[in-house]
Amino acid sequence: MVELSLGTNSLFLNIEERFNSAPGNIQNMISVLEKKIPGSEFTGWMGYDAPESSIKEILDYAKEIRQKFEKVIVIGIGGSYLGSKASLDFLDIQKPKPLSFCGYNLSPDTYAEILKTARNFKTEIIVISKSGTTLEPSIALRMVLSEFMKNRDGAFHVTAITDSSKGILKKMADENGWKRFSIPDDIGGRFSVITPVGLIPLAVSGADINAFLESFTASSKSYSKADISSNSAILYSFARFNLLLAGYINEVFVTWQERCIGLSLWWQQLFGECEGKEGKGLYPSVAHCTRDLHSIGQYLQEGRREIFETFFHLRNDFELSVPGVDLDDKLDYLAGKKLSWINRSAREGTRKAHEMSGRPVISISVEKSDEKSLGDLFAFFMYSAAFSSRFLGLNAFDQPGVEAYKREMSNLLKEWRGNGK
Ligand code: PA5
Repeated sequence: MVELSLGTNSLFLNIEERFNSAPGNIQNMISVLEKKIPGSEFTGWMGYDAPESSIKEILDYAKEIRQKFEKVIVIGIGGSYLGSKASLDFLDIQKPKPLSFCGYNLSPDTYAEILKTARNFKTEIIVISKSGTTLEPSIALRMVLSEFMKNRDGAFHVTAITDSSKGILKKMADENGWKRFSIPDDIGGRFSVITPVGLIPLAVSGADINAFLESFTASSKSYSKADISSNSAILYSFARFNLLLAGYINEVFVTWQERCIGLSLWWQQLFGECEGKEGKGLYPSVAHCTRDLHSIGQYLQEGRREIFETFFHLRNDFELSVPGVDLDDKLDYLAGKKLSWINRSAREGTRKAHEMSGRPVISISVEKSDEKSLGDLFAFFMYSAAFSSRFLGLNAFDQPGVEAYKREMSNLLKEWRGNGK
């Protein structure tokens, strides 16, 4: 299970009592759980139970893809990309067929690299877009398809994961006879990792999607209680809300294992798009340690005060030890010690040092990098985002601000028509 510890900052003192004594808090949590909130039409992920038939279809499909194709390219952006990327980075699975991702930017070097590697292999192309109209994945699909359509009939196959009834991608899939999976109408992008959006890339990689979903469902039950003493998702949400009220406007999600970086980016999108509206919300940023102790570690120790940290780590990690070697590097005292133990000392030491400087630190951890922990984590953060948005009086499930850049970009593309060569 997710373990949460609130650290030593005085703002965390008596936090449960403060939650229970403020009128409206419990009722607010109940209204989230009863789906009586703005955007409730997108709360299908709460209590989500994927039908057995669709799990079977996904597993059969994944088996066939693994047998027939040498490479898999996954195209998507935002919620249609970050959850599956985070999951695959996180899981401790053998990766006989590493998936390549694109469509999450417009960077020529990404495509040059992807097309170079795919050129000589039988390739499955999985394109994911709920709206079916987002520019980045649409361009990516065109780039990748053009490569395969040249003269490589039979060397590729396309699967579209999109809305069940509308959008250009759905239309193209039907017209071209591509395999198609639907995203439930009532689950939005950043909550969609439990639908085919996340399940297909996971299943193709050989992950145990049944264990993942079972864990998500079981954990969702524990995060569905309007009781702060037994629901750590409410505790986390209320702690961050209190910090915001006290002037801490920036939360840094600090990872301590490389396999958790993808998760930090999914977390950043989840909270950024749920809370960053109407001039409200914490600014969600990320740091990856110990690497970043040698860059923004200085700032976190001594810089401006309005930042707090949320440390995230796996309680069990690889058993890898520092070797004993005949080398006068003054490190003999560490020979035979586990790297994970040294990493833990760095984490604990950093927490102490930062707390001593007055920086609030929340710690979140899970047992290990398996499907069970992953399902639990997604449930924990999704419920936390819904509760947090409720404290702020926001609709967690829309992202109107994303349209502004699309509009301006589209105006420029029209203005420059014919010159983009
Ligand atoms: O959370 C969201 O809804 C967004 O981040 C979307 O996932 C993102 O904009 C991609 O949209 P689409 O899947 O329609 O291409």
